[in-house]
Amino acid sequence: SFANLPDAAVDEIFALNHAYIADAHPKKVNLGIGVYRTAEGKPWPLSSVQKIEEQLSRENDAARHEYLPIEGDTVFTKAARDLMFGFSLDAETPAEKAAKQRIASVQTVAGTGANHIGAAFLAHHYKPKHVWVSTPTWANHHTIWDLQGIERKGYPYFNAETCAFDFENAIATLEAEAEEGDVILLHACAHNPTGVDPTKEQWKAIAELCQRKHIFPFFDSAYQGFASGSLEEDAWAVQYFFNMEPRMEMCVAQSFSKNFGLYGHRTGAFHLITNGSNPAEVGLIEKNLCHIIRGEYSMGPKFGSTIVKRVLADPTLRAQWHDDLAVMSSRLIQMRQALYQELLRLKTPGTWEHIVNQIGMFSYTGLTPGQILAMKEEFHIYLLKSGRISISGLSPTNFAYVAQSIDNVVRR
Ligand code: LMR
Repeated sequence: SFANLPDAAVDEIFALNHAYIADAHPKKVNLGIGVYRTAEGKPWPLSSVQKIEEQLSRENDAARHEYLPIEGDTVFTKAARDLMFGFSLDAETPAEKAAKQRIASVQTVAGTGANHIGAAFLAHHYKPKHVWVSTPTWANHHTIWDLQGIERKGYPYFNAETCAFDFENAIATLEAEAEEGDVILLHACAHNPTGVDPTKEQWKAIAELCQRKHIFPFFDSAYQGFASGSLEEDAWAVQYFFNMEPRMEMCVAQSFSKNFGLYGHRTGAFHLITNGSNPAEVGLIEKNLCHIIRGEYSMGPKFGSTIVKRVLADPTLRAQWHDDLAVMSSRLIQMRQALYQELLRLKTPGTWEHIVNQIGMFSYTGLTPGQILAMKEEFHIYLLKSGRISISGLSPTNFAYVAQSIDNVVRR
Protein backbone atom coordinates (compact mmCIF):
# COMPACT_ATOMS: atom_id res chain seq x y z
CA SER A 1 0.00 0.00 0.00
CA PHE A 2 1.07 3.56 -0.57
CA ALA A 3 -0.86 4.97 2.36
CA ASN A 4 2.30 5.89 4.24
CA LEU A 5 3.93 7.86 1.46
CA PRO A 6 5.65 11.02 2.63
CA ASP A 7 3.71 14.17 1.91
CA ALA A 8 5.78 15.33 -1.10
CA ALA A 9 6.21 19.06 -1.52
CA VAL A 10 3.94 20.71 -4.07
CA ASP A 11 5.81 22.85 -6.61
CA GLU A 12 4.99 26.41 -5.60
CA ILE A 13 5.40 27.95 -9.06
CA PHE A 14 3.00 25.58 -10.81
CA ALA A 15 0.56 25.47 -7.87
CA LEU A 16 0.36 29.25 -7.92
CA ASN A 17 -0.22 29.23 -11.66
CA HIS A 18 -3.07 26.80 -11.15
CA ALA A 19 -4.61 29.01 -8.48
CA TYR A 20 -4.34 32.03 -10.77
CA ILE A 21 -6.09 30.24 -13.63
CA ALA A 22 -8.89 29.14 -11.29
CA ASP A 23 -9.40 32.69 -9.97
CA ALA A 24 -12.37 34.39 -11.66
CA HIS A 25 -11.60 37.90 -10.41
CA PRO A 26 -11.49 40.38 -13.34
CA LYS A 27 -8.43 42.21 -12.01
CA LYS A 28 -6.28 39.17 -11.24
CA VAL A 29 -2.58 39.46 -12.08
CA ASN A 30 -0.11 36.61 -12.49
CA LEU A 31 3.35 37.58 -11.26
CA GLY A 32 4.24 33.99 -10.41
CA ILE A 33 5.58 31.75 -13.16
CA GLY A 34 8.47 32.95 -15.33
CA VAL A 35 6.90 32.98 -18.77
CA TYR A 36 6.92 35.87 -21.22
CA ARG A 37 3.64 37.66 -21.82
CA THR A 38 2.80 40.51 -24.23
CA ALA A 39 1.46 43.89 -23.13
CA GLU A 40 -1.99 42.32 -23.59
CA GLY A 41 -1.06 39.51 -21.20
CA LYS A 42 -0.91 36.92 -23.99
CA PRO A 43 1.71 34.27 -24.76
CA TRP A 44 3.95 35.28 -27.66
CA PRO A 45 5.20 32.84 -30.28
CA LEU A 46 8.40 34.57 -31.46
CA SER A 47 8.24 35.83 -35.05
CA SER A 48 11.42 33.94 -35.97
CA VAL A 49 9.94 30.76 -34.50
CA GLN A 50 6.71 31.25 -36.42
CA LYS A 51 8.66 31.48 -39.68
CA ILE A 52 10.07 28.00 -39.07
CA GLU A 53 6.69 26.63 -38.07
CA GLU A 54 5.31 27.85 -41.40
CA GLN A 55 8.28 26.33 -43.24
CA LEU A 56 7.73 23.00 -41.48
CA SER A 57 4.06 22.91 -42.28
CA ARG A 58 4.76 23.70 -45.97
CA GLU A 59 7.42 20.98 -46.18
CA ASN A 60 5.06 18.37 -44.76
CA ASP A 61 8.07 16.05 -44.36
CA ALA A 62 7.03 12.41 -43.88
CA ALA A 63 9.98 11.95 -41.48
CA ARG A 64 8.88 14.73 -39.14
CA HIS A 65 7.65 12.37 -36.44
CA GLU A 66 10.66 10.04 -36.49
CA TYR A 67 12.88 9.40 -33.47
CA LEU A 68 15.91 11.56 -32.83
CA PRO A 69 19.17 9.81 -31.93
CA ILE A 70 19.68 9.23 -28.19
CA GLU A 71 22.20 12.09 -28.00
CA GLY A 72 19.69 14.30 -29.79
CA ASP A 73 19.93 16.22 -33.04
CA THR A 74 23.64 16.95 -33.33
CA VAL A 75 23.08 19.93 -35.63
CA PHE A 76 21.03 21.39 -32.79
CA THR A 77 23.47 20.49 -29.99
CA LYS A 78 26.38 21.97 -31.95
CA ALA A 79 24.45 25.19 -32.63
CA ALA A 80 23.47 25.34 -28.95
CA ARG A 81 27.10 24.82 -27.92
CA ASP A 82 28.36 27.50 -30.32
CA LEU A 83 25.83 29.99 -28.95
CA MET A 84 26.79 29.23 -25.35
CA PHE A 85 30.54 29.26 -25.78
CA GLY A 86 30.67 32.03 -28.36
CA PHE A 87 32.11 30.08 -31.27
CA SER A 88 31.87 32.03 -34.48
CA LEU A 89 29.68 31.03 -37.38
CA ASP A 90 32.58 31.53 -39.78
CA ALA A 91 35.17 28.93 -40.69
CA GLU A 92 36.61 27.43 -37.54
CA THR A 93 40.10 28.40 -36.39
CA PRO A 94 42.48 25.71 -35.02
CA ALA A 95 42.01 27.18 -31.53
CA GLU A 96 38.22 26.93 -31.86
CA LYS A 97 38.49 23.38 -33.11
CA ALA A 98 40.58 22.42 -30.08
CA ALA A 99 38.18 24.23 -27.74
CA LYS A 100 35.16 22.41 -29.21
CA GLN A 101 36.92 19.10 -28.70
CA ARG A 102 36.76 19.69 -24.96
CA ILE A 103 32.95 19.68 -24.94
CA ALA A 104 30.58 16.71 -24.70
CA SER A 105 27.01 17.73 -25.62
CA VAL A 106 23.64 16.01 -25.53
CA GLN A 107 20.10 17.21 -26.14
CA THR A 108 17.89 17.33 -23.06
CA VAL A 109 14.29 17.79 -21.99
CA ALA A 110 14.78 21.57 -21.63
CA GLY A 111 16.57 23.21 -18.70
CA THR A 112 15.16 20.97 -15.98
CA GLY A 113 16.19 17.93 -18.03
CA ALA A 114 19.68 19.36 -18.52
CA ASN A 115 20.03 20.05 -14.81
CA HIS A 116 18.77 16.56 -14.07
CA ILE A 117 20.99 14.71 -16.55
CA GLY A 118 23.98 16.69 -15.27
CA ALA A 119 23.15 15.95 -11.65
CA ALA A 120 22.56 12.25 -12.40
CA PHE A 121 25.83 11.98 -14.34
CA LEU A 122 27.87 13.72 -11.64
CA ALA A 123 26.19 11.76 -8.83
CA HIS A 124 27.12 8.49 -10.59
CA HIS A 125 30.55 9.31 -11.97
CA TYR A 126 31.95 12.21 -9.97
CA LYS A 127 30.34 11.53 -6.60
CA PRO A 128 30.50 14.97 -5.03
CA LYS A 129 30.03 15.13 -1.26
CA HIS A 130 28.02 18.32 -1.52
CA VAL A 131 26.35 20.56 -4.02
CA TRP A 132 26.47 24.27 -3.17
CA VAL A 133 23.46 26.30 -4.23
CA SER A 134 22.85 30.00 -3.80
CA THR A 135 20.51 31.08 -0.99
CA PRO A 136 18.00 31.56 -2.48
CA THR A 137 17.87 29.62 -5.74
CA TRP A 138 15.24 28.24 -8.12
CA ALA A 139 13.41 25.71 -5.92
CA ASN A 140 13.70 22.97 -8.52
CA HIS A 141 17.48 22.95 -8.05
CA HIS A 142 16.79 21.60 -4.57
CA THR A 143 14.48 18.89 -5.86
CA ILE A 144 16.82 17.83 -8.66
CA TRP A 145 19.85 17.37 -6.41
CA ASP A 146 17.90 15.93 -3.48
CA LEU A 147 16.57 13.23 -5.80
CA GLN A 148 20.19 12.29 -6.59
CA GLY A 149 20.92 11.94 -2.87
CA ILE A 150 23.67 14.59 -2.89
CA GLU A 151 23.82 16.67 0.27
CA ARG A 152 22.90 20.26 -0.46
CA LYS A 153 24.55 23.28 1.15
CA GLY A 154 23.75 26.94 0.70
CA TYR A 155 26.07 29.88 0.09
CA PRO A 156 24.78 33.37 0.91
CA TYR A 157 23.65 35.15 -2.24
CA PHE A 158 21.22 37.96 -1.57
CA ASN A 159 21.84 40.79 0.85
CA ALA A 160 18.39 41.99 1.87
CA GLU A 161 19.70 45.34 3.10
CA THR A 162 21.55 46.34 -0.03
CA CYS A 163 19.35 44.24 -2.37
CA ALA A 164 22.63 43.21 -4.04
CA PHE A 165 24.73 40.07 -4.42
CA ASP A 166 26.23 39.19 -1.03
CA PHE A 167 29.67 38.68 -2.54
CA GLU A 168 31.81 38.87 0.62
CA ASN A 169 29.72 36.34 2.53
CA ALA A 170 29.42 34.01 -0.45
CA ILE A 171 33.18 33.89 -0.87
CA ALA A 172 33.84 33.63 2.88
CA THR A 173 31.45 30.68 3.22
CA LEU A 174 32.87 28.85 0.22
CA GLU A 175 36.45 29.51 1.33
CA ALA A 176 35.75 28.13 4.80
CA GLU A 177 33.46 25.24 4.03
CA ALA A 178 33.53 24.02 0.43
CA GLU A 179 35.53 20.84 -0.01
CA GLU A 180 37.55 19.59 -2.93
CA GLY A 181 35.26 17.72 -5.30
CA ASP A 182 32.10 19.57 -4.28
CA VAL A 183 29.84 20.96 -7.01
CA ILE A 184 28.75 24.60 -7.09
CA LEU A 185 25.60 25.56 -8.96
CA LEU A 186 25.89 28.98 -10.64
CA HIS A 187 23.25 30.92 -12.58
CA ALA A 188 24.90 32.01 -15.84
CA CYS A 189 22.91 35.25 -15.91
CA ALA A 190 19.61 36.78 -14.70
CA HIS A 191 19.68 34.96 -11.37
CA ASN A 192 16.38 33.27 -10.54
CA PRO A 193 14.76 34.38 -8.20
CA THR A 194 16.66 37.55 -7.26
CA GLY A 195 17.46 39.23 -10.61
CA VAL A 196 20.90 40.08 -9.18
CA ASP A 197 24.10 38.88 -10.89
CA PRO A 198 27.76 39.03 -9.85
CA THR A 199 29.89 41.67 -11.58
CA LYS A 200 32.68 40.51 -13.88
CA GLU A 201 35.25 41.10 -11.13
CA GLN A 202 33.15 39.02 -8.75
CA TRP A 203 32.80 36.25 -11.33
CA LYS A 204 36.58 36.21 -11.70
CA ALA A 205 36.97 35.74 -7.95
CA ILE A 206 34.43 32.89 -7.95
CA ALA A 207 36.25 31.24 -10.86
CA GLU A 208 39.59 31.58 -9.11
CA LEU A 209 38.14 30.03 -5.96
CA CYS A 210 36.69 27.09 -7.92
CA GLN A 211 39.98 26.51 -9.66
CA ARG A 212 42.12 26.75 -6.53
CA LYS A 213 39.84 24.65 -4.33
CA HIS A 214 38.89 22.15 -7.07
CA ILE A 215 35.19 22.89 -6.87
CA PHE A 216 33.23 21.78 -9.92
CA PRO A 217 31.24 24.63 -11.56
CA PHE A 218 27.76 23.70 -12.78
CA PHE A 219 26.17 26.56 -14.72
CA ASP A 220 22.45 26.84 -15.26
CA SER A 221 21.82 29.04 -18.30
CA ALA A 222 18.10 29.66 -18.74
CA TYR A 223 18.06 33.35 -19.72
CA GLN A 224 20.75 33.97 -22.35
CA GLY A 225 19.56 37.08 -24.21
CA PHE A 226 17.30 38.24 -21.38
CA ALA A 227 19.73 39.83 -18.95
CA SER A 228 21.96 42.36 -20.68
CA GLY A 229 20.21 42.31 -24.04
CA SER A 230 23.36 40.76 -25.56
CA LEU A 231 23.78 37.03 -26.08
CA GLU A 232 27.56 37.38 -25.67
CA GLU A 233 27.35 39.37 -22.44
CA ASP A 234 24.88 36.91 -20.96
CA ALA A 235 27.33 34.07 -21.65
CA TRP A 236 30.31 36.00 -20.32
CA ALA A 237 30.69 34.08 -17.06
CA VAL A 238 30.39 30.68 -18.75
CA GLN A 239 32.95 31.67 -21.38
CA TYR A 240 35.31 33.14 -18.78
CA PHE A 241 35.32 29.89 -16.79
CA PHE A 242 35.67 27.90 -20.01
CA ASN A 243 38.70 29.87 -21.21
CA MET A 244 40.57 29.91 -17.91
CA GLU A 245 44.07 28.45 -17.70
CA PRO A 246 44.81 25.99 -16.27
CA ARG A 247 41.61 24.54 -17.69
CA MET A 248 38.78 23.51 -15.46
CA GLU A 249 36.21 20.79 -15.85
CA MET A 250 32.72 22.24 -15.66
CA CYS A 251 29.26 21.84 -17.12
CA VAL A 252 26.36 23.88 -18.47
CA ALA A 253 22.63 23.18 -18.46
CA GLN A 254 21.16 25.22 -21.31
CA SER A 255 17.49 26.00 -21.76
CA PHE A 256 15.71 27.45 -24.79
CA SER A 257 12.36 27.78 -23.03
CA LYS A 258 12.55 31.53 -22.45
CA ASN A 259 14.83 32.86 -25.19
CA PHE A 260 12.90 31.00 -27.92
CA GLY A 261 9.55 30.95 -26.09
CA LEU A 262 9.45 27.16 -26.54
CA TYR A 263 8.32 26.38 -22.98
CA GLY A 264 6.17 23.32 -23.61
CA HIS A 265 8.43 21.91 -26.32
CA ARG A 266 11.11 21.10 -23.74
CA THR A 267 14.16 22.25 -25.69
CA GLY A 268 17.60 22.24 -24.11
CA ALA A 269 21.13 20.88 -24.05
CA PHE A 270 23.67 19.70 -21.53
CA HIS A 271 27.39 20.33 -22.06
CA LEU A 272 30.15 18.73 -20.02
CA ILE A 273 33.56 20.30 -20.46
CA THR A 274 36.79 18.39 -20.01
CA ASN A 275 40.20 19.91 -19.43
CA GLY A 276 41.19 18.64 -22.87
CA SER A 277 44.13 16.55 -21.70
CA ASN A 278 42.67 13.26 -22.96
CA PRO A 279 41.03 13.39 -26.42
CA ALA A 280 39.19 10.09 -25.81
CA GLU A 281 37.34 11.45 -22.79
CA VAL A 282 34.59 13.37 -24.60
CA GLY A 283 33.37 10.31 -26.50
CA LEU A 284 33.28 8.31 -23.30
CA ILE A 285 31.32 11.03 -21.50
CA GLU A 286 28.79 11.23 -24.33
CA LYS A 287 28.34 7.46 -24.25
CA ASN A 288 27.65 7.56 -20.52
CA LEU A 289 25.25 10.48 -20.87
CA CYS A 290 23.43 8.53 -23.59
CA HIS A 291 23.26 5.52 -21.31
CA ILE A 292 21.41 7.57 -18.69
CA ILE A 293 19.16 9.26 -21.27
CA ARG A 294 18.20 5.96 -22.91
CA GLY A 295 17.30 4.41 -19.57
CA GLU A 296 15.21 7.38 -18.54
CA TYR A 297 13.33 8.62 -21.63
CA SER A 298 15.24 7.45 -24.72
CA MET A 299 15.82 10.91 -26.23
CA GLY A 300 14.66 14.50 -26.19
CA PRO A 301 11.75 15.82 -28.25
CA LYS A 302 12.18 16.89 -31.86
CA PHE A 303 9.98 19.88 -32.62
CA GLY A 304 11.67 22.56 -30.51
CA SER A 305 15.20 21.52 -31.39
CA THR A 306 14.31 21.59 -35.11
CA ILE A 307 13.08 25.16 -34.71
CA VAL A 308 16.13 26.33 -32.77
CA LYS A 309 18.66 24.75 -35.13
CA ARG A 310 16.99 26.26 -38.18
CA VAL A 311 16.77 29.75 -36.70
CA LEU A 312 20.40 29.66 -35.61
CA ALA A 313 21.59 28.39 -39.01
CA ASP A 314 19.90 31.10 -41.08
CA PRO A 315 21.51 34.57 -40.82
CA THR A 316 18.24 36.39 -41.62
CA LEU A 317 16.19 34.43 -39.12
CA ARG A 318 18.94 34.69 -36.57
CA ALA A 319 18.83 38.48 -36.91
CA GLN A 320 15.05 38.33 -36.57
CA TRP A 321 15.47 36.27 -33.41
CA HIS A 322 17.78 38.95 -31.99
CA ASP A 323 14.99 41.45 -32.66
CA ASP A 324 12.51 39.13 -30.94
CA LEU A 325 14.78 39.01 -27.89
CA ALA A 326 14.97 42.80 -27.90
CA VAL A 327 11.16 43.01 -28.03
CA MET A 328 10.88 40.84 -24.94
CA SER A 329 13.73 42.33 -22.91
CA SER A 330 12.77 45.93 -23.65
CA ARG A 331 9.18 45.32 -22.59
CA LEU A 332 10.44 43.89 -19.31
CA ILE A 333 12.65 46.94 -18.74
CA GLN A 334 9.71 49.27 -19.48
CA MET A 335 7.54 47.43 -16.99
CA ARG A 336 10.22 47.65 -14.30
CA GLN A 337 10.32 51.40 -14.88
CA ALA A 338 6.54 51.74 -14.89
CA LEU A 339 6.14 49.90 -11.58
CA TYR A 340 9.02 51.79 -10.00
CA GLN A 341 7.78 55.23 -11.12
CA GLU A 342 4.27 54.49 -9.89
CA LEU A 343 5.57 53.44 -6.45
CA LEU A 344 7.54 56.69 -6.31
CA ARG A 345 4.49 58.67 -7.34
CA LEU A 346 2.45 57.02 -4.59
CA LYS A 347 5.30 57.70 -2.13
CA THR A 348 5.09 54.08 -1.07
CA PRO A 349 7.18 53.66 2.10
CA GLY A 350 10.51 51.90 1.50
CA THR A 351 13.09 51.97 -1.27
CA TRP A 352 12.24 50.51 -4.66
CA GLU A 353 15.30 51.20 -6.85
CA HIS A 354 16.09 47.50 -6.84
CA ILE A 355 13.10 46.92 -9.13
CA VAL A 356 14.90 48.82 -11.89
CA ASN A 357 18.40 47.70 -10.95
CA GLN A 358 17.61 43.99 -11.01
CA ILE A 359 17.71 42.29 -14.39
CA GLY A 360 16.05 39.55 -16.40
CA MET A 361 12.60 38.18 -15.88
CA PHE A 362 12.37 38.49 -12.11
CA SER A 363 12.52 41.00 -9.34
CA TYR A 364 12.90 40.28 -5.68
CA THR A 365 10.53 42.82 -4.15
CA GLY A 366 11.35 42.46 -0.47
CA LEU A 367 7.64 42.14 0.39
CA THR A 368 6.98 40.09 3.52
CA PRO A 369 4.99 36.82 3.64
CA GLY A 370 2.04 38.62 5.24
CA GLN A 371 2.03 41.29 2.55
CA ILE A 372 2.29 38.65 -0.18
CA LEU A 373 -0.67 36.78 1.26
CA ALA A 374 -2.73 39.98 1.37
CA MET A 375 -1.80 40.73 -2.25
CA LYS A 376 -3.22 37.37 -3.23
CA GLU A 377 -6.28 37.19 -0.97
CA GLU A 378 -7.44 40.78 -1.30
CA PHE A 379 -6.10 41.97 -4.64
CA HIS A 380 -5.83 38.69 -6.58
CA ILE A 381 -2.18 39.37 -7.39
CA TYR A 382 -0.12 36.19 -7.42
CA LEU A 383 3.58 36.16 -6.53
CA LEU A 384 5.95 33.68 -4.90
CA LYS A 385 6.26 33.48 -1.11
CA SER A 386 9.85 34.68 -1.39
CA GLY A 387 8.62 38.00 -2.81
CA ARG A 388 9.78 37.18 -6.34
CA ILE A 389 7.67 38.74 -9.07
CA SER A 390 7.79 37.81 -12.72
CA ILE A 391 8.00 41.17 -14.46
CA SER A 392 6.37 39.80 -17.61
CA GLY A 393 3.05 39.58 -15.75
CA LEU A 394 3.01 43.39 -15.62
CA SER A 395 1.33 45.32 -18.43
CA PRO A 396 0.40 48.92 -19.25
CA THR A 397 -3.10 48.17 -17.97
CA ASN A 398 -2.24 46.51 -14.65
CA PHE A 399 1.00 48.05 -13.33
CA ALA A 400 -0.85 50.90 -11.57
CA TYR A 401 -3.17 48.41 -9.88
CA VAL A 402 -0.17 46.34 -8.78
CA ALA A 403 1.60 49.44 -7.44
CA GLN A 404 -1.53 50.56 -5.55
CA SER A 405 -1.86 47.10 -4.04
CA ILE A 406 1.79 47.08 -2.96
CA ASP A 407 1.31 50.56 -1.53
CA ASN A 408 -1.76 49.38 0.37
CA VAL A 409 -0.15 46.31 1.97
CA VAL A 410 3.10 48.09 2.77
CA ARG A 411 1.31 50.86 4.69
CA ARG A 412 -0.47 48.53 7.12
C1 LMR B 1 10.17 29.95 -13.12
O1 LMR B 1 11.10 29.97 -12.31
O2 LMR B 1 9.07 30.46 -12.90
C2 LMR B 1 10.37 29.30 -14.46
O3 LMR B 1 11.70 28.90 -14.60
C3 LMR B 1 9.41 28.22 -14.71
C4 LMR B 1 9.75 26.97 -13.97
O4 LMR B 1 9.93 25.92 -14.61
O5 LMR B 1 9.81 27.00 -12.75
